[in-house]
Amino acid sequence: MKKALVTYFSCGGTTQATGEKIATVMNYDVAEIEPEEAYSREDLNWKDKESRSSIEMQDESARPDYKTLDKNLQEYDLVFIGFPIWWGIEPRIIDHFLEKENLKDKVLIPFVTSGGSQIDQAQARLEENYGGKLKFLEGRRWGRNIEAEEIKTWIDDLEI
Ligand SMILES: Cc1cc2nc3c(=O)[nH]c(=O)nc-3n(C[C@H](O)[C@H](O)[C@H](O)COP(=O)(O)O)c2cc1C
Repeated sequence: MKKALVTYFSCGGTTQATGEKIATVMNYDVAEIEPEEAYSREDLNWKDKESRSSIEMQDESARPDYKTLDKNLQEYDLVFIGFPIWWGIEPRIIDHFLEKENLKDKVLIPFVTSGGSQIDQAQARLEENYGGKLKFLEGRRWGRNIEAEEIKTWIDDLEI
């Protein structure tokens, strides 16, 4: 059987709760992509052009550091990658994760939470920037209420 790991980046806890729910329902392992330097409330203020998140999202090459994962990625075939939508796309820390880790032979499945944005723009960017090297399946945006049955159906439909 294929072995799956759910990774996630989360500042406010929504993506964390989603990732943990997926892991619990499917009996997958879970690991946080934890920033080396935690984001403060001010850092996350998207209305402030000078906030840390704004500065990072305005800089295509920003690659915030994260702590070493507490799971060994090489033990897994499937890696779910969860993140909040920032400025319509993936936070730069996710780009860092995709570039730094050896994910070449794995199947990657993005999932996101957001204030309303869909996953499409993030998915398109991931395909465009990394599609030559990495294999992504179609990801999914989750709202606040997430049912076990919906998770199972989603993963069944991925045919992994
Ligand atoms: C810096 C920043 C930028 C955001 N940009 C968007 C956006 O473009 N579209 C959207 O729907 N939500 C946006 N959001 C809202 C988050 O995607 C949403 O609250 C998400 O569920 C937060 O996940 P978390 O609690 O795991 O951090 C943004 C939030 C932050 C902090």
